[in-house]
Parts: sequence; C-alpha cells; structure tokens
Amino acid sequence: MLPIYKPYLPASSLRYAHDALDSTWISSQGVYIDKAKEQLKELIKSRYVVLVNNGTCATHMLALGLKFKYPHIRKIIVPNNVYVAAWNSFLYSGGFDFEIVDADLSTWNMDHGAIREIPDDTALLVVHNLGNIINVPALRKRFPKAVIVEDACEGLFGSYDGIPAGTGSLMGSISFFGNKTITSGEGGAVFTQDEELFEYLNSVRGQGQSSVRYVHDKLGYNYRMTNVQAAILCGQLELVADIRNRKREVFDLYREQLREVDEIRFQQEEPGTEHAQWMFAVRFEGFDLPTKNALELFLFENNIETRPMFYPIDRHVHLSRFKGAHAVANQLNHQCLLLPSFPEMTRGQVLNVSRKIKDFLRTRGSR
Ligand SMILES: Cc1ncc(COP(=O)(O)O)c(C=O)c1O
Repeated sequence: MLPIYKPYLPASSLRYAHDALDSTWISSQGVYIDKAKEQLKELIKSRYVVLVNNGTCATHMLALGLKFKYPHIRKIIVPNNVYVAAWNSFLYSGGFDFEIVDADLSTWNMDHGAIREIPDDTALLVVHNLGNIINVPALRKRFPKAVIVEDACEGLFGSYDGIPAGTGSLMGSISFFGNKTITSGEGGAVFTQDEELFEYLNSVRGQGQSSVRYVHDKLGYNYRMTNVQAAILCGQLELVADIRNRKREVFDLYREQLREVDEIRFQQEEPGTEHAQWMFAVRFEGFDLPTKNALELFLFENNIETRPMFYPIDRHVHLSRFKGAHAVANQLNHQCLLLPSFPEMTRGQVLNVSRKIKDFLRTRGSR
C-alpha cells in the first residue's frame, strides 16, 4: 500500500537520537533541546520558540496565551473545516465561544472575506489548511486592532509577505507529528515575537514554575518536548532545504500530470503567499459524496491510501452545538481527496497515482 505519508528520517536523526539515549538525558533536558530551538529560531526567524510535546499542546498554548494576554477576549472566529485539534484546543480550558466562518471554494481555507468586523472581545484563529497560507499581514492591515493567532501546524515553511507563516501574528503553533514535513514522532512548537508571552508560555509548559525552583506561580502543564524528540528533529532541521525540494518535486509533478484534467481543481493560493506544500490534494468539480467514496475505494483497491478533506465542525458529536454556514465546507468534504505526498515519493509513484485517477475518471460512466 502506498501510504498517504511516510516520515523522512535521515541517518543524522537516528545518530542524534542514539546519542541522546546514550547520554541518558532522555527527558526534557539535554543538548538537543537547545540545539533544535536555536535551529528553528534561525530558520523561521522567530524571536521566541517554545518546544512542546505535540501540536495539540502547542495550539492549546495559543488559547492559554490569549487568556493571559487578553483576558477580556471571550469569542474566537474559527474556520468551519479544519483538523479537530484546532477547535478542541480552544475548549480545553473553557471561556471561549466560537463564531464559525464557512470555507472558501478556491483556497479551501476560511472565507475571511466574509468577516465584516472583529470586535474587541473577539480574536481570530487562522488555520492554513494543508499548507495553503492565509495572508496574515494582509488581514492585519484590514483589521489593525484585531488579535490574531495562527494554528500553523500544517503551514510550517509556508510564507506570507516574505516572512515565515506562524510568525506574523501574536502566536503561531506548529506540529512535528509523523506526517508533517519535519517530525519528531510527536512534537510541536509555539512561535511568538512577544517577550512577555514567551516567558508565560515557557513557564506554563513546565508546570508553571516561578523563578524559584519548585515554587509555582500559575496553573501549569507538562507539555515539554524530550531530548530524544529534539534529537530526531535536529537531523531534519539540518536538511530542511533538501526535504522541501523533494516535496516540491512531488507537488510539481502532480500538478503537471493533473492540470489538464477537466474535473480537477487545485487549491488556489492567496496573493503574497507561498504554499507550505504539506499535503497535496485535489478537488473534483461536480463530484457528489458517493462518487468521491467510489474513487477513494478504487484507489484503495489499487493500493493507494488517500484521506478525505476535513469535516465541518458540527459533524463532530462533541462540537455539534457550534452551528454556522457550512455549505462550502461540506462541498469540499464531498469533492476533495488528499493524495500521498511525502518527501521520498518516487516519480513513478506520483505518475501511478495520477494515472489511476485518470483511469477512474475515464471509466466512471461505465461503473
Ligand atoms: C491544523 C492542526 N492543528 C493541530 C494539530 C495537532 O497536532 P498534533 O497531531 O501534533 O497534536 C494538527 C495535526 O496534525 C493540525 O493539522
């Protein structure tokens, strides 16, 4: 079976991980923690980076940071079609209501053009679906007083206005899960340019310890990344250019192979942004859910794993109370398919997936 994703683990990641194990510094202290942090800061040009144990914790820290910095904020404007952890993270500690915005059919992101105002008691959560970047600096020009935070878990290495996604808002979260462009198995980070927030988040991540060891001054969590996770990350951080080039080739080849297919639409990028190229996906114009399911099954029978586009928020049982416009989010869920797109994918594998999709489309009338 061709998997939807396969992590790229260079020899250096394995070497560093062994070194971390040999050193016996296997918890959240050790040389690789600082090394990974400094490498990330340099790559992403973020003033502050807090490493954590997964992207969900990183995104929960956005909610905690928001409460700390702007305690009067009670509502978050959220997209209607994102990975569930983006919403969950703002519900863990309570205190926030949601205003739901439907998706945009061309970008597959939140249709932020539909947002008329962002009142004082409201923040905006930006999520870059599949790595398609929302232009946060442009949003900040439109809403200069608004507080914006970013779940950039799928947007790492994308950019807006020439700066890395995740660094142009109050805080940005990222994930290093096994299916992300760089991975530590589980892992994540928060970016911020605000010193006060950094100090707060850094402390919250480690049980809320004050400057005196074992004296705590706030409700904290154990969201720390381990030295072994950081070691795995370091090997990849040294090879980011290579990893990204490999993914770019996969994306470019898919586009070249599928561009001329009548039914197929790609995610459209916003002006001034560069796609992070996390996961390649296509939309099939005119498809209904049974047709998309049939294609998914056909590809599965041909040993190709795919993934559906995210479901609207009220489709999740615990989130069903959050109602909002969802016509486009639904349409995307019924028409989009995420395709295998990992760094070590060969040319032959991309050609085979593209060929099978075309085979299905050519013969679907006779099925
Ligand atoms: C948009 C988004 N937010 C949050 C997360 C959570 O990250 P993790 O799986 O590392 O907890 C993900 C994970 O894939 C994600 O795609």
